[in-house]
Amino acid sequence: MNTPAAGQTADKGPAVEAMFDRIAPRYDRLNRLLSLGVDVRWRREAVREALADEPTHVLDVATGTADLALMLKRARPSARVVGVDFAEAMLAVGRAKASKAGLDVPLQRADALALPFEDGGFDALTVAYGLRNFADVGAGLVEMRRVLRRGGRVVVLEFPPPPANLAGRALRWYGRTVMPTLGGWISGDRRAYAYLPASTEAFLTPEELEVALVRSGFTRVRHRLQTYGVSALHVAVAA
Ligand SMILES: C[S@@+](CC[C@H](N)C(=O)[O-])C[C@H]1O[C@@H](n2cnc3c(N)ncnc32)[C@H](O)[C@@H]1O
Repeated sequence: MNTPAAGQTADKGPAVEAMFDRIAPRYDRLNRLLSLGVDVRWRREAVREALADEPTHVLDVATGTADLALMLKRARPSARVVGVDFAEAMLAVGRAKASKAGLDVPLQRADALALPFEDGGFDALTVAYGLRNFADVGAGLVEMRRVLRRGGRVVVLEFPPPPANLAGRALRWYGRTVMPTLGGWISGDRRAYAYLPASTEAFLTPEELEVALVRSGFTRVRHRLQTYGVSALHVAVAA
């Protein structure tokens, strides 16, 4: 069920951007439905980790509709929280949510592989379910390291490939059948909701992601699985 955009290819960026622009209006609703609402808890854990050192400048990369960026701002109103994403329609949904909530969270269109920020300008950086969509994961991690100050924290939420046990088989079945059917039905874009689980199956294992973080200039790397390994939370510090 792999799709051309699930792995790392030169034309992956534009295909991913166009896909998220298409599904943006229904993205939040489907997130809650397909995760049975558990994603809110996964994000809360990421917020706790990201804010542990009381950062003043926080960047949420691949912010999408800004769920995590808004949570970060609510949890730490004194911090400047900025979100970036290359899908303008996702950002538009996020801006409407920020304005409705009265939260000052600038949302800027930018490619995660070429962030428009100076070196070392952020104390903490988050990326939730964005990394596996990058055309070049290693280059994305190096770019994140570049904009973090030394000692700054990176927090990554991502869906690891389902493990080879019974729970993993159930997850694979859910991804291959329920997600494209339900996602296609509600969003009108079955291909997008076939891509999402396929990209998960093609992504790095949590251990491989730890290695990639170290290779990209991070240290004190650790991870923990969330909800039986459906999601994984990685934390690391810019070396
Ligand atoms: C699955 S969504 C996650 C959105 C949000 N972080 C969340 O947790 O709901 C993935 C997001 O990554 C963005 N994205 C993927 N590759 C990107 C890149 N190279 N630069 C910027 N955004 C990117 C997509 O546009 C999309 O909004």
